[in-house]
Amino acid sequence: ALPRDLDGVRVVVSAGGTREPLDPVRHLGNRSSGKQGYALARVAAQRGAHVTLVTAHTDALPEPAGTEVVPVSTARQLAEAVESAAAGADVVVMAAAVADFRPVNTAEHKIKKTDHTPDPTITLTRNPDILAGLVERRRDGQIIVGFAAETGDETGSVLDHARAKLKRKGCDLLVVNAVGEGKAFEVEENTGWLLSAEGLEQRIPLGAKAQLAATLWDAVTALLRRRSHG
Ligand code: PMT
Repeated sequence: ALPRDLDGVRVVVSAGGTREPLDPVRHLGNRSSGKQGYALARVAAQRGAHVTLVTAHTDALPEPAGTEVVPVSTARQLAEAVESAAAGADVVVMAAAVADFRPVNTAEHKIKKTDHTPDPTITLTRNPDILAGLVERRRDGQIIVGFAAETGDETGSVLDHARAKLKRKGCDLLVVNAVGEGKAFEVEENTGWLLSAEGLEQRIPLGAKAQLAATLWDAVTALLRRRSHG
């Protein structure tokens, strides 16, 4: 049996990939299946938390038992739903893959080849940074967890990028997934690092997404315990 160490803790988890419409039939999206976010929500509920799952688009996944599910589509809808749920939450986990940009214009009718000579250009504008907004409006004692999908490159390793992102984003915990061919997105397993603002750097071995979820909730309960003991 799982520990009931999140009994009564109010948790918000975001999951899945946002879609930014171009016209009534097309969108800009990403490869998130929602599996990691749903595993986080399911495990938290099993450990006793009150869970609100704000979900963008996912593969066909069963609703995690005992959670309140709020479906959304675009980044701006996700922002609104997460912000409103976060107002009453002890912990917010941003596992959703949020589009950083959206098309400036959404065509009312399907864009036809004949509409365009020359070929059309899509102009993008920035979406709100939801995590940054959550950190800015953090309630006393509230724990905010970010996720990051990173690849190592010539400017640094996955862990280097993760350290920089944790500082920049100002969240309490950051889970960093190494992404690339067959990693993190869509698949059943995940791996990476768990970093905390207090300097924890824990390697998360390759395992089921529920296992990564358990590792994260262990870190969250440790933080909650320390905070409640001053
Ligand atoms: O859904 P799966 O197929 O199971 O895959 C899981 C996953 C790889 C999508 C997931 O584990 C993950 O890493 N999610 C975050 C991916 C991501 O968008 O990373 P990022 O580096 O672009 O964003 C960093 C953080 O800021 C994330 O917590 C993200 O939710 C948040 N963000 C991003 C953009 C934005 N406009 N607002 C945000 O709040």
